[in-house]
Amino acid sequence: MNRRTFLKLASAGVSATTPAPISLAFAAAPAPRPLFGAAVNPRLLREGHAAYRDAIQRHCRIVVPEGGLKWEGLRLSPTTFDFGHGDRFVQYATENSMAARGHALVWHLAMPKWTKAIETPRAAEDALRFHISTVVARYAGRIASWDVVNEPLPETPGTSAELRSSIWQALLGERYIDLALEMAAAADPAAELVINEYDLEFAGERFQRKRNGILHLLHRLLTRGAILHAVGLQAHLRGERDIDRAGLRNLIRTIRGMGLDVLITELDVMDHALPSDPAARDTIVAQRVAELLETVFEECTPKSILTWGLTDRHAWIPEHFKRRDGARNRPLPLDDNYTPKPFLKVLQRFGAPLLPTDDRL
Ligand code: G3I
Repeated sequence: MNRRTFLKLASAGVSATTPAPISLAFAAAPAPRPLFGAAVNPRLLREGHAAYRDAIQRHCRIVVPEGGLKWEGLRLSPTTFDFGHGDRFVQYATENSMAARGHALVWHLAMPKWTKAIETPRAAEDALRFHISTVVARYAGRIASWDVVNEPLPETPGTSAELRSSIWQALLGERYIDLALEMAAAADPAAELVINEYDLEFAGERFQRKRNGILHLLHRLLTRGAILHAVGLQAHLRGERDIDRAGLRNLIRTIRGMGLDVLITELDVMDHALPSDPAARDTIVAQRVAELLETVFEECTPKSILTWGLTDRHAWIPEHFKRRDGARNRPLPLDDNYTPKPFLKVLQRFGAPLLPTDDRL
């Protein structure tokens, strides 16, 4: 008898036949653990990037492609797809027994130029249906979890009903989200369907509005019967910004109360406003990650925790948040030379794989 059956029977007042061994087994049962992993760059999964591939294999049990499954990389034209990066990514995950996430079926960014010619609601709906059904069906059974809609909320939501502008929102209104979820569910009924959003973690009016915005959106979607399984907290943290512990706990509790799971999908820490000294910076970065994870774990064990990249050598943050002192950014668990940083140690406290070489920390 498994634990779920036992609990069901117990709550229904049905007594178990072998109580003693079962209760011992429960005592020994390991606590649920999140799957840990990272966003990977499909280009670097090719031969010739041995150190990168080695690091991913050592530290990741789940991966998501940083690019390659966005419209920009996939959609050469209204009728064609380039599955090169996507296929290589999925093959890599399969060969290395890693779970795979897909990112992202609908996003306002990373859109090919030809989509500007989509000008009517009919054309938008057709394009969305064609894209989602083709991509999700291709990877059905191999990509277990999809960011179906990425970043649906505006930078600063005015009202709780406001959505970010995009061609989808302009032509279809909020219905584009229902449609996207419906298409994804139809193409792979077993896939975990996720709405992924950023800036849900911090203290301040702007971020509280974002938390309110996502909760209202989820409520509207679920009321309309949408199929949705989880919310992705991107968790692009900022070294200088406090996490709103009470606000985040309340958000997670409310999401869970709606029957949805919580994932951490893009964890990293922007360090452009932190001190120059690398050790001091690494400490603050790790403290922010600890603050986030402690808060989240007070409410639930997230199903998966992914960082957005694994090594500072290949990170997106330097492109947008360069440091004024010219020092390299240090936003991720491994440094430029793949050496573990205090960030990794924090992840390991929360269940990330602990490797023999990590005692260097
Ligand atoms: O592939 C082209 C290459 O052919 C060309 O030579 C080069 C010149 O700029 O650009 C390459 O494409 C770049 C692509 O990354 C692959 O490296 C794009 O310009 C660049 O815009 C793209 O940036 C990605 C960005 O999303 C937009 O897609 C970042 O790597 C990626 O980290 C970032 O990820 C987002 C998540 O999807 C959503 N959450 C926020 C996160 C960080 O911004």
